[in-house]
Amino acid sequence: MRPTMVAGNWKMNGLSGDAVHLTQAILHAGLEPMRPEVVIFPPFTLLHAVSQEAKSSALRWGGQNLFWEASGAYTGEISGAMLRDMGCRYVLIGHSERRQIFAESDAQIVQKIKAALLSGLIPVVCVGETEAERAQGLTDAVLRRQLEAVLPLLNLEASQPNLIIAYEPVWAIGTGLSASPEQAQAVHVFIRELAAAYSAQLARRLLLLYGGSVKGNNAAALFDQADIDGALVGGASLQAGEFIQICHAAE
Ligand code: G3H
Repeated sequence: MRPTMVAGNWKMNGLSGDAVHLTQAILHAGLEPMRPEVVIFPPFTLLHAVSQEAKSSALRWGGQNLFWEASGAYTGEISGAMLRDMGCRYVLIGHSERRQIFAESDAQIVQKIKAALLSGLIPVVCVGETEAERAQGLTDAVLRRQLEAVLPLLNLEASQPNLIIAYEPVWAIGTGLSASPEQAQAVHVFIRELAAAYSAQLARRLLLLYGGSVKGNNAAALFDQADIDGALVGGASLQAGEFIQICHAAE
């Protein structure tokens, strides 16, 4: 059985007090340590506060983005080493909001994944089609294009995958309209098949998260699907009770 993960992406939300409150709530929720692994992705400004609260717990945290250069004159950017310095284990890369609002390309995403791996971070790489792409029957083609850039970065020498994939259909993000468990499962199977072309063993062990309007009341049905190994939660991760319910659904 593959491990499961529930990750909360706070996006551009929260001040110090919120970070302490949310982190404390998760820490005191009576979750079984590491079942699932619970990860939070706060804004950069809250990484220190989260790390102070969570440092001696099983809770993990990560950055929502990074830049591929190690240091230098890149105003406003954050390096992999800086995230590691904040105790991050993970980094989100290629979230659809980065792709759409900040015009991140597949080539830039590859550079970011390489930088993350070099820094010792585990990239959580987001992929997914828009509503128009799905309507035109282009879901597989879009995912193939996005993943053809990413999957060659799997370390074929390793016994465990060096990255995680989050399938996030853009039409389901923040809309309240989650993909059905069956729709998500079908895409996850497709992603695993693409990965199997590189390594059957790594594909079996590849952690595939689903993201897009995951809530307390739909998480269990999603987690029941054989190829859904966890969730990347946006809006509901800002509500302690809702997020904890999702974590319990993965236990
Ligand atoms: O990173 C998380 C996703 O964008 C999902 O966001 O749960 O608010 O739909 P959401």
